[in-house]
Amino acid sequence: MNTIHINSDKCILCGTCEEVCVRRIFSLAENALTLTEPESCILCGHCKAACPEDAIEIPALDPSEFLPVPQKDEIPSPAMLMNLFRVRRSTRIYKDMPVEREKLEQIIQAARFAPTGGNLQALRYVVVHTPDKMKAVRGLTIKALTQYGKTLEKAMEKAPEDQKASMTGNRMMNYLQMFKRAEADYEKGMDRILWDAPALIVTHVSNLVENPGVDVGLAGMQMALMAESLGLGSCFIGLLIMAATYSRELRSELMIPENHKTVTSLVCGYPDITYQTLVGRNKEKVRWL
Ligand SMILES: Cc1cc2nc3c(=O)[nH]c(=O)nc-3n(C[C@H](O)[C@H](O)[C@H](O)COP(=O)(O)O)c2cc1C
Ligand code: SF4
Ligand code: SF4
Repeated sequence: MNTIHINSDKCILCGTCEEVCVRRIFSLAENALTLTEPESCILCGHCKAACPEDAIEIPALDPSEFLPVPQKDEIPSPAMLMNLFRVRRSTRIYKDMPVEREKLEQIIQAARFAPTGGNLQALRYVVVHTPDKMKAVRGLTIKALTQYGKTLEKAMEKAPEDQKASMTGNRMMNYLQMFKRAEADYEKGMDRILWDAPALIVTHVSNLVENPGVDVGLAGMQMALMAESLGLGSCFIGLLIMAATYSRELRSELMIPENHKTVTSLVCGYPDITYQTLVGRNKEKVRWL
């Protein structure tokens, strides 16, 4: 199947598609538009979205998603956007209240429209949103971190003294203490890992995808900002990724395919904390050239 169709009855040979295509697929010469290596198309949709005559069809893309571009007053102003960036905090106190499925779907849609290198769109999502499933994931996360902690402890015991005193050694010791405290708190009914959040979104990607890190970060942030805009708090949980990397049982509970790795996890829910102010950050370190 061809990736791109040109409707020659509609095309006015304006050359916009030739100019906008990242893969240089269109050639306008001698009053004709031709396609070169259309199979190298990355399905970014720029040509179709920019064509003034709606003369381009891309069968792989849903035409109903090529909606009118929002007006300027329909997108946040710089000040509103900055408010959103600054009001988002890592929420660790949640109301005992479920998150509506529609809101979780909106968060996934936010991730779907994040840019990806080569428009690869390789990220996959697991949404955990029922109390029973959250409980199971919570339990397996603590179990995995406790076991991982024991493995670390054994390795540290055998390590030479200079290695124990090194920065890595110190970090390991910090993790160990954290896992022990988390386990003890969990036994007392407190979840210091997933923060008793009612919902969790885990992102995973095939091991075959090289360097997905930037795509993962961008999609993650779009999810967190959408959550904020929906009145939800959220928090990225690196420790769940550590647990899932270590525990096949947890990956299986999350239905992560064998050849995939878990790359981010974001808990979310209705916040049970009100901040009185925004916070400061380190001053920017920028060299202007
Ligand atoms: C990690 C990353 C690397 C990218 N590298 C390039 C690049 O080197 N050159 C380029 O023209 N576009 C690059 N892009 C842009 C993607 O091709 C683009 O995001 C994707 O095709 C989707 O199109 P959109 O951003 O217009 O929605 C990159 C995007 C990401 C997220
Ligand atoms: S942008 Fe549309 S009208 Fe212009 S040359 Fe391309 S297909 Fe034809
Ligand atoms: S969808 Fe993107 S890559 Fe494909 S032909 Fe159009 S502009 Fe080029």
